[in-house]
Amino acid sequence: MSRSLSGQVALVTGAAAGIGRATALAFAREGLKVVVSDVDVAGGEGTAARIRETGGEARFIRCDVTREAEVRALMEGVVAAYGRLDYAFNNAGIDIEKGKLADGSEAEFDAIMGVNVKGVWLCLKHEIPVMLAQGGGAIVNTASVAGLGGAPKMSIYAASKHAVIGLTKSVAVEYAKKNVRINAVCPAVIDTDMFRRAHEADPRKAQFAAAVHPIGRIGKVEEVAGAVLYLCSDAAGFTTGIALPVDGGATAI
Ligand SMILES: NC(=O)c1ccc[n+]([C@@H]2O[C@H](COP(=O)([O-])OP(=O)(O)OC[C@H]3O[C@@H](n4cnc5c(N)ncnc54)[C@H](O)[C@@H]3O)[C@@H](O)[C@H]2O)c1
Repeated sequence: MSRSLSGQVALVTGAAAGIGRATALAFAREGLKVVVSDVDVAGGEGTAARIRETGGEARFIRCDVTREAEVRALMEGVVAAYGRLDYAFNNAGIDIEKGKLADGSEAEFDAIMGVNVKGVWLCLKHEIPVMLAQGGGAIVNTASVAGLGGAPKMSIYAASKHAVIGLTKSVAVEYAKKNVRINAVCPAVIDTDMFRRAHEADPRKAQFAAAVHPIGRIGKVEEVAGAVLYLCSDAAGFTTGIALPVDGGATAI
């Protein structure tokens, strides 16, 4: 699997932290040149620096994925830097809801849909022409188990992640004969800084989060990165349009 990725170019959005950072590091370990992108400049520069410290090739390009001009400039920056784009991980996402649907605000709706849906749509729109021009590529979008079922008190987030899966399947079929494969990963609860901050204060919540996964624990960012690398690799050459749970069995029950 690793040899098929080595020397190629990968883009990761939302790569300043969490799943995106772990996946950028994993791409680099496999020998890829990595474009690290995020709105968080310090975090994104930090990811790129970590890759370079270990002998890898990376550069940071700031981009707010909700703004088409910035997404267009990001793709131009990738091509200017490395001449091509073989793999893209459209991972930037937010989750800011705290309550039931009737307590939500229009601002929350617009913010969540803006990053999670419009952001993925804009990235796909500007990545695909680059891949078509060079003869192919592979894209992975970050959905969630909240894109496969309901998520109480996270209804806008769940709607946004269902939309990511709808985009993924539709566009995968559109470009299936053009050697551009497009899939989604659907993580359950993953151990990120965000999760730790939310659960430090109440260990019972952390125990509950672990218990909803038949495996008996929450996931590791590296376990999502592994799924992304698999979907990008030639080992997944016959796989397009899927929404792959990375969920410790959570959606199996
Ligand atoms: N952590 C989990 O348990 C979990 C579970 C399922 C799905 N996900 C999804 O995984 C993805 C990564 O989440 P994470 O847990 O690593 O969280 P995170 O907050 O650590 O990472 C998200 C990154 O996206 C960036 N971002 C936010 N808005 C942006 C914008 N407009 N443009 C560019 N970048 C932007 C943030 O700065 C941040 O670096 C998200 O799409 C999230 O919905 C996370």
